[in-house]
Amino acid sequence: MRIVLGSDHGGLALKEQVKAYLDEENYDYHDIGVDMDASVDYPVYGRLAAEAVVSGEYDRGIVFCGTGIGISIAANKVHGIRCGLVTNVYMAEMSRKHNNCNMLALGGRVLDAKTAIQLVEIFLNTDFEGDRHQRRVDMLDNM
Ligand code: RB5
Repeated sequence: MRIVLGSDHGGLALKEQVKAYLDEENYDYHDIGVDMDASVDYPVYGRLAAEAVVSGEYDRGIVFCGTGIGISIAANKVHGIRCGLVTNVYMAEMSRKHNNCNMLALGGRVLDAKTAIQLVEIFLNTDFEGDRHQRRVDMLDNM
């Protein structure tokens, strides 16, 4: 599985902590930035990560900003992206089982690293349940 990561300055620190986990677990990932604390615009990075997933270059995307809200909105503007803004274990599970999310958004000013890593682990290792959920996901993709 190839993973693309992106963040603004508000998500940078948490992204670095998640990268340490991905390194430990030997995940194949690419970080499109940002890599400095200077203020940047989350729509730029949300869009870049989302387009990288839709292009097929990456299987999943994980994006970070201060709350996760702005960058999830940006990602979801890209057709074919289902980006779930997740703050707990149940949401992480459902984002995959019911919504077949191909991107995860996390808030760097909302979550501690331990929780964020737990959510990432669930996001990367939970399968879509299909069945009745497939029809709804198809509806999303046809909007
Ligand atoms: C940047 O200060 C902040 O607005 C951004 O990281 C994010 O929280 C937006 O949704």
